[in-house]
Amino acid sequence: MTITSEDELTGLREIGRIVANVLQAMAKALQPGMTTQELDDLGRQLLHRDGAVSAPESAYAFPGATCISVNEEIAHGIPGTRVIMAGDLVNIDVSASKNGFFADTGASFRVPHTGPAQDRPQLDRLCRDGRRAMQIGVAQVAAGRPLAGIGRAIGRFADERGYTLIRNLASHGVGRALHEAPTEIATWPDRSEKRILREGQVITVEPFLSMGGLWADEGRDGWTLYSRPAAPVVQFEHTVVATRNGPLILTQPDN
Ligand code: CO
Ligand code: CO
Repeated sequence: MTITSEDELTGLREIGRIVANVLQAMAKALQPGMTTQELDDLGRQLLHRDGAVSAPESAYAFPGATCISVNEEIAHGIPGTRVIMAGDLVNIDVSASKNGFFADTGASFRVPHTGPAQDRPQLDRLCRDGRRAMQIGVAQVAAGRPLAGIGRAIGRFADERGYTLIRNLASHGVGRALHEAPTEIATWPDRSEKRILREGQVITVEPFLSMGGLWADEGRDGWTLYSRPAAPVVQFEHTVVATRNGPLILTQPDN
């Protein structure tokens, strides 16, 4: 959507804060031995407490309040009996609506070890760099700027560090629906992208940074996405307004 009033901004700020707080609480609760269902139950409970409704559930009948994707799963993972293990790479994506306003946020985490030092430090580096890639993309958001700037900046960062980007999971407009115009915003370099961001436009920025993955393939359950070729992938996502002064991030937690 394109914000045209202070009321709209207030509504979006509220749902943005809610999904960000829920994501943060779920990340804090993340620990070895719990199931993805238990983690989703917490997310559902917190959304409900704040008067928000899960967007994937209400808009797409997704079987969960949040999407939780572990290791080889890269997005749209269905909460269930899977037990989270120390060292796992877990992506949590929280999107919800309240009073007709939608916001969308996500982040990837490494489940901490309680015992000896964590192996595969490159996964910790991937998490840090995935967040940076998202921040670099967000910094390109401003009224009057080309949408292509987002993918160009993220692509440069990924190249410099020897990462790949998943090229068929795009960012999107959001606000009055979970997915709306402008659709298919590339978070990778895309020469065919000619659109310009308008003042007040609300979009997500959600690059999928990987150590070799190029494409997302749908699994047999019709939801879960996997990397092709198989490789670790992280995703970080904010909902952002394009203003004349640059990006206004709506999905910031209270603290
Ligand atoms: Co999302
Ligand atoms: Co999204």
